Amino acid sequence: MGTVRNIVILTGAGISAESGIDTFRSAGGLWEQHRVEDVATPEAFARDPELVLRFYDMRRAAIQEKLPNPAHFALAELDAKWKGGLLIVTQNVDDLHTRAGARRVLHMHGEHLKAWCTSCDVRSHWRGPLIERPPCPVCQARTLRPDVVWFGEIPYRMGEIYAALREADLFVSIGTSGAVYPAAGLVRNARDLGIATLELNLERSQGSDWFHESRQGPASALVPQWVEEILAK
Ligand code: OAD
Repeated sequence: MGTVRNIVILTGAGISAESGIDTFRSAGGLWEQHRVEDVATPEAFARDPELVLRFYDMRRAAIQEKLPNPAHFALAELDAKWKGGLLIVTQNVDDLHTRAGARRVLHMHGEHLKAWCTSCDVRSHWRGPLIERPPCPVCQARTLRPDVVWFGEIPYRMGEIYAALREADLFVSIGTSGAVYPAAGLVRNARDLGIATLELNLERSQGSDWFHESRQGPASALVPQWVEEILAK
């Protein structure tokens, strides 16, 4: 690997697993307990908003009880110390990167702690439930929905992500199964651009073969170790 100046990091549910937040596709994960079609699509929300809102109200309440783990703190330390470009692109809708102190974070799948008003299109910070259809703080319409990207919707800020990737020398993927596009395709975009690629995941993922290097283990161990390595260079 040549000199690294600019880094793009992609994180997934695996980085928050050791904080006690359920992943999606592991045994007993969220998508075993709930059908995606029932809770995570715009069609589901149109058909049965109560079911969808109850699901996200539970998740929103749960993440507020959890704490960042050593993997989140290590990335926050990297963010604080890294002089070059850095973008932490997260698929996670929890706020643990931010609570650990990271600043250069982009939530491509939205955030549990925001509500999106589909009448006035404003996104407001939100911690409580949505099930009782509270009024939008801006326009008072009772049309708030979780500000989370559902299946069939386009992830946020893809232009910024691709722009950061074009400037990057290193792409690192942490705790993601590589099952959901376009996030899962970023490693191939990186390869096309000639960027070095590293995967840190509990086990081999669907995307492992695309990475120059893939390390297996818990994020709480692998991430601090890698951050120490890259800061020492
Ligand atoms: P998944 O649940 O699909 O994958 C989590 C990955 O983390 C798996 O490959 C696990 O092996 C790994 N993992 C589990 N525990 C770990 C640990 N302690 N340390 C390191 N790795 C660990 O979650 P995502 O890949 O994030 O999208 O899922 C992608 C998207 O699918 C989510 O953002 C969500 C979901 O449907 C939307 O809701 C739009």
